[in-house]
Amino acid sequence: MMGSDWVAVAGLADVPKGEIREVLFDGGVIAIAHTESGFFAFDNNCAHMGVSLAQGALCGDVVICPLHKWSYDLKTAVMTYPQAGRPFSVFPLKIVNDQLLVRRFPEEVGE
Ligand code: FES
Repeated sequence: MMGSDWVAVAGLADVPKGEIREVLFDGGVIAIAHTESGFFAFDNNCAHMGVSLAQGALCGDVVICPLHKWSYDLKTAVMTYPQAGRPFSVFPLKIVNDQLLVRRFPEEVGE
């Protein structure tokens, strides 16, 4: 049933390049960013105090929390500041018919 785990969370046009949006996913809210590298779906809650990262800034493929500047690399799925290398949740994402589809991590599916 792997194919049924993908969920459409937004349309391509809903997330303009250089922007971050909050979207509903799996009973909660995640963030979608559109960088020069493409689209990324990730944990919206800053690991510091839970502030919405969708309110933060994009610098290349790095999202920077608006409150205390903790930073996360969307391409490598790790924090870059202040705890460089700490894992950060970036979800599998694909594009189908102008829709952004997101999937939970395989280890979280069907447990
Ligand atoms: S809440 Fe994000 S850096 Fe403090």
